[in-house]
Amino acid sequence: LAPPPHNPALWAADANEAFRLSLVRAKDDKAALTAREAYEGFHPTFTYPIFGEDEKIYGYRDLTVDLKFASGSLAQFLNITYAERLPSSSAVDDIEATLRKFIPSDYYTTEADFLARVEEDALAFTPPGTCVHAYSRPAGALSRKGKHIAIPQFLSPEDEETVEFEVYHVSSFCTWATPRFREYHRRMQLFVLLYIEAGSYIREDEETWEFVVLYEKRKRRSDPSIATYHFVGYSSLYPFYCFPERVRMRISQFVILPPYQQEGHGSALYTAIYQHVLASPHIAELTVEDPAEAFEDLRDRNDLKMLFANERFMREALGECWAGTAGGRPGDTGVSIDGGGRVGTNGAARSRAA
Ligand code: ACO
Repeated sequence: LAPPPHNPALWAADANEAFRLSLVRAKDDKAALTAREAYEGFHPTFTYPIFGEDEKIYGYRDLTVDLKFASGSLAQFLNITYAERLPSSSAVDDIEATLRKFIPSDYYTTEADFLARVEEDALAFTPPGTCVHAYSRPAGALSRKGKHIAIPQFLSPEDEETVEFEVYHVSSFCTWATPRFREYHRRMQLFVLLYIEAGSYIREDEETWEFVVLYEKRKRRSDPSIATYHFVGYSSLYPFYCFPERVRMRISQFVILPPYQQEGHGSALYTAIYQHVLASPHIAELTVEDPAEAFEDLRDRNDLKMLFANERFMREALGECWAGTAGGRPGDTGVSIDGGGRVGTNGAARSRAA
């Protein structure tokens, strides 16, 4: 039985629940991914920048706001469905008009057109910018964490497909001028509002922003000579002037989409940025704007890993203890880094290093 229309509170939907995001792959690419359903229908963490402080959408019953992205180009398809809607009144939110303020106006409203675009993109989409870092993972490792279903039975660990990841840097002092990037950024910036607490859109008239974008790169099953790219996450960086003639680079926004979290991709993206900074003599320092706790944790773990791999630092930090170890391996000092990137210690080394 429908709740009485005169009580709008009963017609309120939790915006974080109603809002569903999907990263849609072409049919052929999806066929290779039976274990990765989690790319479709995941939810935002925050919707208050869009739907207001109480994160509620008023005036509907059984509401679903489906925003689908083509996994590479991030072309969007918006589909709003509900069982019932209150008769038009000020208590009914105009969901599409609200969303239109945050997404580019060229989104698809017909699923068939969107899916045709997804198929087209699979053959045509390549990331804007320059590849600066690449790494790979066995596909099975991505599905062993519980949130993805296990790899198909017929695959033994030796048969596992290797999935490549590439980090693209869109840079430097002419950033917005990188072909196709401005439009691309307008599509991906929504993830900042949906996943970073207190995140907000950056200004396009500030010239000096730099970006690093992470993609999953797969070979097509039907034609392995074709590489397809799928958006994973990104970071925006802002270079501040640093006396006398260098810049202090600040990580401003950093997001890995939920289906890819907890797989080490955040660490890989951070490491790529860190290496880029080390290789750029004009950058004096790498800082972070108002980091979330999870990001602080990621940064600490990765900074420690890099320090432990730095022989000079280890020698100076641990003195004789380090000098006495064969080959100077971190594990020999009582400090260990396990496979998942965790740092463990059995003594004073941790407090000194930290
Ligand atoms: N299998 C299982 N676990 C793994 C694996 C793996 N292969 N690899 C890493 N992990 C673990 C890590 O040990 C770590 O564990 P912990 O949570 O116990 O410390 C955890 O996974 C996270 O490490 P990563 O996988 O490297 O990081 P992730 O890709 O999940 O990214 C981030 C972390 C960026 C915080 C992500 O969760 C995110 O985008 N969150 C939402 C947005 C956000 O908060 N962004 C930061 C805001 S601050 C700013 O913008 C400056």
